[in-house]
Amino acid sequence: MTRTLAPDDAGIARAAGLLAAGELVAFPTETVYGLGGDARSDTAVARIYEAKGRPSFNPLIVHLPDLAAVEAIAEVGPKARALAQAFWPGPLTLVLPLRDGAAVSPLVTAGLTTVAVRVPAHPLAQALLRAFGGPVAAPSANPSGRVSPTRADHVLDGLSGRISAVLDGGPCAVGLESTIVLADPEPQLLRPGGVPVEALEAVLGIPLALSGDGAKPTSPGQLASHYAPEAGVRLGVTKAQPGEVLVGFGTVEGALTLSAKGDLVEAASHLFQILREADRLAGPGGRIAFAPIPETGLGRAINDRLRRAAAPRS
Ligand code: TXA
Ligand code: MG
Repeated sequence: MTRTLAPDDAGIARAAGLLAAGELVAFPTETVYGLGGDARSDTAVARIYEAKGRPSFNPLIVHLPDLAAVEAIAEVGPKARALAQAFWPGPLTLVLPLRDGAAVSPLVTAGLTTVAVRVPAHPLAQALLRAFGGPVAAPSANPSGRVSPTRADHVLDGLSGRISAVLDGGPCAVGLESTIVLADPEPQLLRPGGVPVEALEAVLGIPLALSGDGAKPTSPGQLASHYAPEAGVRLGVTKAQPGEVLVGFGTVEGALTLSAKGDLVEAASHLFQILREADRLAGPGGRIAFAPIPETGLGRAINDRLRRAAAPRS
């Protein structure tokens, strides 16, 4: 039912045609796979929520090929522009005021007056956005609350039969979702992600505080329990308890490791794949333990995702 499309001209044309027909297509970005639908179509966007089983108060990110296309739907303030110039195309999402009369379904913004926009760097995402020629709403291509997909087969594990196609671009290079920032007038970090906070701070020239908490989510990534594997998760562990699957980092060795070299970029790119593997190894009712990860660079985003994976389930 869900067809896998090859990463070539025919696959891209097919994917763009399905989007134009209001259907759902998962596609690779440098962060994670997105579940794409035409952001102008209420029906397509409603199908995204339905396929993910996502609570409808969580708005979606609109994907566009460049800053000019973003400016057609949103107002780009001075700090947002500086960040866009520094990090687009790339793993940064900006929350911007929606332009009056912008052709974006209100289901995308969940009724907010702002819209989250992102210009992905992945060549297949770029090719698809240009072939389709319109805004593409795309959350991560996983059932709501579960681990994000960084390979086409992860998408099929969660959504096979619920979407028309997946464009197979192999593993995602960054492996963590985009960093979400509300830039103007006062910059706020809404979700740590693929662009390290230190890099944003260097461009803005001021410290960037993480806003919000799990109790009052403005971002589903801010829900306390999110990115959840089946197994229970314990963090900051150097020695596993009996029956736990230990995921190592650096000098802490485990059954699996995020990065034996202690490299945070490598660890980020493996995180969601390793969560899935550890979940399988742990088995029903099992437990996963993670070695400590430093709270710098991409480590902040990794720890953010791990804390949510470890949070009590609602
Ligand atoms: O890397 C990524 O960002 C991936 C790829 C596919 O682009 N997408 C992704 O989407 O992670 P999703 O839906 O899983 O997360 C989108 C986040 C949510 O946390 C949502 O609440 C937030 O963006 N968001 C969307 N619109 C917003 C708005 N107007 N204000 C605040 N947050 C918003
Ligand atoms: Mg997600």
